[in-house]
Amino acid sequence: MKKPTRVNHPPCVELPPGNRPLVAPIYQTVKFEFDTLEATEAYLRGERPGFFYSRASNPTTRELELLLAELQGRDDCLVTASGVGAISQTLLALTKQGDHIVCFVETYNPTRYLIRRLLGRFGVTHTLLSVEDLAGVERALAAQATRLVYFESPTNPVTKVADIAALTRLARAAGALSVLDNTFAGLHQHGGYDVDVFVHSLTKYASGSGDVMGGAVIARSELIRALRTDFGALGGTLDPHAAFLILRGLKTYFVRYRTQSASALRIAQFLAEHAAVARVHYPGLPTHPQHALALQQMQDFGTIVSFDLRGGAGAVRRFADSLELFALAASLGSTESLVLTPQMMGGRELSAEQQRICAITDGTIRLSIGLEDTEDLIADIGRALSAAGA
Ligand SMILES: Cc1ncc(COP(=O)(O)O)c(C=O)c1O
Repeated sequence: MKKPTRVNHPPCVELPPGNRPLVAPIYQTVKFEFDTLEATEAYLRGERPGFFYSRASNPTTRELELLLAELQGRDDCLVTASGVGAISQTLLALTKQGDHIVCFVETYNPTRYLIRRLLGRFGVTHTLLSVEDLAGVERALAAQATRLVYFESPTNPVTKVADIAALTRLARAAGALSVLDNTFAGLHQHGGYDVDVFVHSLTKYASGSGDVMGGAVIARSELIRALRTDFGALGGTLDPHAAFLILRGLKTYFVRYRTQSASALRIAQFLAEHAAVARVHYPGLPTHPQHALALQQMQDFGTIVSFDLRGGAGAVRRFADSLELFALAASLGSTESLVLTPQMMGGRELSAEQQRICAITDGTIRLSIGLEDTEDLIADIGRALSAAGA
């Protein structure tokens, strides 16, 4: 074999029987082969297991899918290149022309865009309500055959807690599928509820380091089986190296989520006692309007703390610019703390009444609490509140 040939067919190093790595290898390959044409054809006919092309399946992404399904308490999972990829592919795969969706004003802006603009172009209609308006949901489901009820809990940015038992009961009674974007609550919560489909951004808590993007849809196996072909055709596959990074992130998922949530609670308590703060939104505070529901539904209240500054827009600018440990950046769930101002929260296309439902005021700040020392974060927030003249 000449050297140009050899570099394309390098020596193969296989582990001897009884010898294995503690960290699974990354199958950083697009293609897999079988020993014979007969075996290849048997695979293509679905008569034998294996892997063939990584857009459809890959052992590293499959390892991640199996772990995520177990964490969320369902049978199966498909991973995608981003959270929005999981949402868009799920919406496209589950709906057809003439279908109707019930969804909520408090939902992540790009999801609302996908339902309104993208699905709207294909003749899918929707009713947009407040996630607190259960009577409205009941009326919408009675008025029209509905394919999906799509919701989030807690919501972004003011952490409203959706009544998951009520929403899933109403959806099931109406023959609609319930889809919950569970990114904020995380992979270990809400699995005991009768939710048909969970979607997640793995970019957030699952990876935890802010260095990789990914998404997941998690459901019972017959639903995932129905989605798998469309997902392969839509093509938003997660790369095996990204899957590896997310698998590595998941090893510290519980430690991070719980430590960051405990820190968030202490910061929420600090803010609640500060004279410059008109209102704090955190499900773990007894003053949160749905605290009792949060206690029923959640074991950890998450890392997002939002609050309204009495000083309005001017105070928000001074506060955000004075923080030293919080980056002015999008996303959440990473180890570093972040801050968002109303201008960074989107929702400009909403009517005045819908914006009122979102509860974002000129003075609203969203903090995403990282893994820094809690006292350092509180000191930084205290300094910035003073500098804001608030
Ligand atoms: C609730 C929620 N869902 C989905 C996404 C989208 O995830 P990604 O950025 O991985 O596409 C986000 C991102 O902020 C989010 O907050």
